[in-house]
Amino acid sequence: MAYRHFEFIEKHAWTLGILTAVMVSLGGLAEILPTFVEANRVKSTAGGKPYDPLRLAGRDIYVREGCYLCHSQMIRALRFETQRYGAFSTAGESVYDRPFQWGSKRTGPDLARVGGKYSDAWQRVHLMDPRTVVPESNMPAYPWLATTRVDGTDIAARMRTLRMLGDPYTDADIAGAAGAVDGSTELDALVAYLQGLGVARESEPARTAAAASPTIAGTSP
Ligand code: HEC
Repeated sequence: MAYRHFEFIEKHAWTLGILTAVMVSLGGLAEILPTFVEANRVKSTAGGKPYDPLRLAGRDIYVREGCYLCHSQMIRALRFETQRYGAFSTAGESVYDRPFQWGSKRTGPDLARVGGKYSDAWQRVHLMDPRTVVPESNMPAYPWLATTRVDGTDIAARMRTLRMLGDPYTDADIAGAAGAVDGSTELDALVAYLQGLGVARESEPARTAAAASPTIAGTSP
């Protein structure tokens, strides 16, 4: 009896197609829906604090200049990654990143934990002209950042928008935004952003140890 039903389905392409689509959709929903619920439960590992105004401005410049086209901010849980860059990335680290900057394109190194790796002075010189400090570098120079001022009104507006999306900025934070970035250049903001990458996060030696899995040969850097 049941066998005859199967035979009917298998011999009718449309019925088979539609029933397959229904089953695949149900399976998809079962896998996708829980991740939406889970996404809202992820807590920031940076002490629950969203970006301060200067770093937020820096982040926007990072996105505007397309730094993500050559740099990822996602350290994978593989030994060769954690040995080079540090503890692997977790979801809690990107709670305030809209849009997130994980990426997978690495013409340059991953930047998820670059904060504090170099001095502010090094970062400034490097952004003005990378070849000054790394002669073989093919990273572009960004000299205009040093002469362009950060727009405080714009940053306050961005913070208000982010608050609508759930970032816990207070009225005082937003009111103080223009003052906080007053007189800063885009270079100051970008360096502040870079120097904060990965440093406010708890250092988790256990995570590095857990990632001490065998190296997978042939995986891209
Ligand atoms: C065309 C690709 C490219 C783009 C675009 C690019 N970079 Fe780079 N970046 C590199 C390469 C290659 C290196 C490694 C050589 C060096 O240090 O200059 C690097 C190195 C760096 C380093 C040092 C990382 C370390 O751990 O040593 C930082 C910081 C950095 N880039 C920031 C930026 C920022 C910020 C932007 C955007 C304003 C940017 N990069 C845009 C290619 C790029």
